[in-house]
Amino acid sequence: MKVLRGIDEWRRFRATSTGSLGFVPTLGGLHEGHAALIQRAAAENDLAVVSLFLNPTQFDDPGDLASYPASLGDDLAYAEAQGAGAVLAPNREAIYADGFRFKVEESPLSRELCGAHRPGHFSGVLTVVLKLLNLVKPDRAYFGEKDYQQLELIRGMAQAFFIEAEIVACPTVRDADGLALSSRNARLDAAGRALAPRLREALSVPASDGRVADTLAGLGFEVDYVATRFGRRLAAASIGNGEARVRLIDNIPLAQVRASGGESGEVPA
Ligand code: PAF
Repeated sequence: MKVLRGIDEWRRFRATSTGSLGFVPTLGGLHEGHAALIQRAAAENDLAVVSLFLNPTQFDDPGDLASYPASLGDDLAYAEAQGAGAVLAPNREAIYADGFRFKVEESPLSRELCGAHRPGHFSGVLTVVLKLLNLVKPDRAYFGEKDYQQLELIRGMAQAFFIEAEIVACPTVRDADGLALSSRNARLDAAGRALAPRLREALSVPASDGRVADTLAGLGFEVDYVATRFGRRLAAASIGNGEARVRLIDNIPLAQVRASGGESGEVPA
């Protein structure tokens, strides 16, 4: 597996690579959710490329950025084991040589749901994804459905800016108890880890979004929102306080809410 740290080095490598390229952008902290994306990129393309870039502009909370569990050595070994043929791991100065003077802004969706609770977050995400797509020039780029609002925004941006890469949505990977895999799960303490799967469980109950939010609050979550959009029910909620606070997001298709049975008459529209 090739590891490329500099932009010029990457460009030289890209110029020589032939065949189709599947791209998996990541913040690092790779887990089985990323493994599914990398394996799919490797299966559907001649070359799978992973980027490891802990993008500072999408972190509205400096504590969250500082405690993000990414280790370059571990991530490189993990990406290679999943079938990556190359990794792009640039530094912040290389990606933000402009000092973040130029950025992608979207509205209204980027200001809603997670965007209402994380000011500037999606501008940071869209800006870095556009930069990476321009550098990597993939045929296909793979994103997880766990970050569904992010996926919708990236799809919209790709269309708006005539990006030729196909944006491929991949199903959420879950632990056996239903918890959606996330790098931040590593920061949950034992009590938090025991509570976390209840988020997915509550989302599946065919009650109104308000009732689901009340249920989660009753269980001890601090709820940012429960909402029905894009034919799915989405939620963001935190567990714990202060430094130990971990924010989780999840979503499931409405078909799964309806299929799960239980109370009637309050299924979201
Ligand atoms: O979903 C992520 O891991 C990040 O938001 C992404 C798409 C790699 C951009 O930094």
